[in-house]
Amino acid sequence: MRNPERHALIVGASRGLGLGLTETFLRRGWRVTATRRVSAPGLESLSAQGARVETTDIDDDASVAALRDRLDCETFDLIFVVAGILGESDRPLHAVPRAVHAQVFLTNAVSPILFAEAFHDRLVSGGTIAFMSSGLGSIGLNTDGGWENYRASKAALNTNARSFAARHAARDFGVLLLHPGWVATDMGGEGADLDVATSAAGLADVIEARAGRTDLAFLDYRGETLPW
Ligand SMILES: NC(=O)c1ccc[n+]([C@@H]2O[C@H](COP(=O)([O-])OP(=O)(O)OC[C@H]3O[C@@H](n4cnc5c(N)ncnc54)[C@H](OP(=O)(O)O)[C@@H]3O)[C@@H](O)[C@H]2O)c1
Repeated sequence: MRNPERHALIVGASRGLGLGLTETFLRRGWRVTATRRVSAPGLESLSAQGARVETTDIDDDASVAALRDRLDCETFDLIFVVAGILGESDRPLHAVPRAVHAQVFLTNAVSPILFAEAFHDRLVSGGTIAFMSSGLGSIGLNTDGGWENYRASKAALNTNARSFAARHAARDFGVLLLHPGWVATDMGGEGADLDVATSAAGLADVIEARAGRTDLAFLDYRGETLPW
């Protein structure tokens, strides 16, 4: 029988969308385990509302393995890898140092999949693994260019998530790539279309509506399908 208390693991919740998703799922009655890399007062204050605050850096295998050990007895209805970075991404590709490109690709496109490989066996049957993608990761929608290394990293995340889904074709969990909209965070900046609460509520609606599904989808925060 399915546990009526759903449990989410939100990875990259120190601030921005991860923090907003943690608040949103707690308000909706979920049990939430949320991670940060270093001390994050905004997230730690949510302990009072029941959040379990944990530590991990998705770029560090030992740190991910240690988290897995600490969460040994836990299962999750949702694992949401939210963490992501920009790396001089407002500059054209040729103006960015190679090492910066490498870091953006590692954090945005590779580490989320490694995390999923380490944790997918902790999902309950009918659970969901979600990756925070971006509309900028859609190759089909890239008519104007810009944000080149970031776009490419999210397109690579989408491709790697499709490969992950194919590798686990017999899975009993769903795989989602989610676009939160353009959101006012440290990354999104002040002129963004949406506040964190609106985007997080939309993303939570999409995730809750798809509970029990085992397919793969690339959706925005309103549940609209995006072209690959
Ligand atoms: N804001 C937007 O408009 C927008 C649009 C589309 C997609 N997104 C995506 O949404 C996600 C969240 O973005 P945001 O706007 O909330 O950005 P943000 O405010 O810059 O937050 C980024 C989060 O990722 C964490 N993080 C970065 N590298 C990490 C690592 N190696 N291990 C663990 N955590 C790490 C950060 O932790 P620290 O505090 O330790 O740095 C922080 O919690 C990202 O994947 C981003 O690409 C955002």
